[in-house]
Amino acid sequence: MPILEKANGELLTEMDDISDCLSPAGVSLESWPVIRSGEVGALLALPGLSGPEKEAVLSGHERYFERLRDSHGYQSRDLVVLSPETPGLDDLLSAFLRIHLHEDDEVRYILDGEGVFGFVLPDGEQVELLVQPGDFIRVPRNAEHWFHLTNSRRIKAVRYFTSTAGWVPVYTGTPHTFPGISS
Ligand SMILES: [Fe+2]
Repeated sequence: MPILEKANGELLTEMDDISDCLSPAGVSLESWPVIRSGEVGALLALPGLSGPEKEAVLSGHERYFERLRDSHGYQSRDLVVLSPETPGLDDLLSAFLRIHLHEDDEVRYILDGEGVFGFVLPDGEQVELLVQPGDFIRVPRNAEHWFHLTNSRRIKAVRYFTSTAGWVPVYTGTPHTFPGISS
């Protein structure tokens, strides 16, 4: 389940409260069950996955992709797997820690591990959202945000795309004001 932290340390744990806080930025959240049984469940427990193993995990959750394809026109999906063993992990993460936006929606479904999305709300307030397995998040195009991993430095997440180019980060130059974050 997601947990939202405000800059003053206040925590929001109820989905309705979190949605109310993020709705001015157009960010939407849903909760979708992750498959934890059988081959897919066993693969999700592994630290790293081969190409065919990623495809098996994606196929196991394909009904969500089909729903998004029909409702929002998403054309493709892939599975991103990050861990301390990922080559170039620090460089990758530093690119996403800087406040940026995309020209397309950033859509993620967390299957394993966890991560943190930060948002610059329209009134300038900065907040952070912890996302965990089962959390589906849509960050709309042009919404300022950042991303980092937690101390475990592990995540498996499905990315859904309407195009392959729209998710390149566009840095806005907005400085971080959230406590403990700098870039
Ligand atoms: Fe992003």
